[in-house]
Amino acid sequence: MRKAYLSLLALAVLALGVVAAGGFPWPSQNFPKEVPNPPASYPPGELGEMVKLGEAIVMNTNTHPLTKDYVGNDLQCKSCHLQGGKGKNRYATFVGVATSYPAYSPREKAVVSLEDRILNCFMRSMNGTRLPVGSKASIAMAAYITWLSTGLPVDQNPNKPIGAYNTPWPDPAIVKLVKAGSVDADHGKQVYEAQCAACHGPDGQGVGAFPPVWGDRSYNAGAGMANVIKGASWVKYNMPLGNAHLSDQDAVDVMAYVNSHPRPSFKLTDHLAPAGQAGVYNSNVPQQIIEAPTWPPKKK
Ligand code: HEC
Ligand code: HEC
Repeated sequence: MRKAYLSLLALAVLALGVVAAGGFPWPSQNFPKEVPNPPASYPPGELGEMVKLGEAIVMNTNTHPLTKDYVGNDLQCKSCHLQGGKGKNRYATFVGVATSYPAYSPREKAVVSLEDRILNCFMRSMNGTRLPVGSKASIAMAAYITWLSTGLPVDQNPNKPIGAYNTPWPDPAIVKLVKAGSVDADHGKQVYEAQCAACHGPDGQGVGAFPPVWGDRSYNAGAGMANVIKGASWVKYNMPLGNAHLSDQDAVDVMAYVNSHPRPSFKLTDHLAPAGQAGVYNSNVPQQIIEAPTWPPKKK
């Protein structure tokens, strides 16, 4: 009897925890623990051609003839989705991502498709313009990302437009530090100079093929990366390139430093396709302007 009460109590505590966390436990299906390898071969025929086109766009977004006019900076999708999303890094991989769509997006306050999610990265991370929904490049990227989920179970995400391997997102340890006010951009400058400047430049403008991390040629103020919590969650698992090892505190501090520099501000309406070419933009996102620098947070 007592045992039954105890397990009921445990269930109630679990349920409360879930409600407090603002969502349902997800993913609910059994995904392999490690990020699986990408499929061994491309699909046959026209579909395979679209998948390969999508991959080429993800790798060369700012120079590819089908997308270059829609990109407003020097980045490619693969600048953040390392190895074109084929890698095993959490917070960068596209493996498993397609299984979670259509998903609820708190930012858009709407249920969005995978294609919508891709086009939103064009407006923010790429500081560009939404491609028309259903256009060849848009379908090609969706085909590529969907192919990378081959064989994994469908498991739509009711909380966030994020794939199975990018959860929990953002990283709980990072959220805790930032919420506690443990953010030191001056220390972040030291981390940056020691561990980042060799590739991204002391002035943040990138060196050779290494991309800029602030200024006009980088992501805009509306991008996930411009948010210290999200940026630090990404950096923790992905940078320095090939050797991600920063402590939680160093990741927070360095992204506070990076995001304390100027970059393009974000006004949603500047990033929509011209009227009549957009298709439907399924969103209830507020029309506010987000200004850089995004750190320190502006006082209301
Ligand atoms: C400046 C970095 C950056 C660039 C460039 C970028 N993304 Fe992202 N992308 C992110 C971050 C960070 C997230 C997750 C966090 C969020 O929701 O803000 C994300 C999330 C996504 C997701 C949701 C799935 C998941 O689990 O992460 C998709 C799909 C996606 N990006 C596609 C693209 C495509 C396609 C491009 C190129 C057109 C692109 N992204 C360019 C940073 C970037
Ligand atoms: C060895 C070189 C190298 C080092 C060191 C390095 N990065 Fe990167 N970083 C890259 C490359 C290359 C990319 C883009 C990945 C690609 O295109 O394959 C990138 C991408 C990024 C991006 C997303 C794209 C952009 O330009 O905004 C951010 C943010 C970033 N790095 C931050 C950092 C931070 C912070 C550090 C230090 C903790 C760091 N990097 C250290 C090479 C490096």
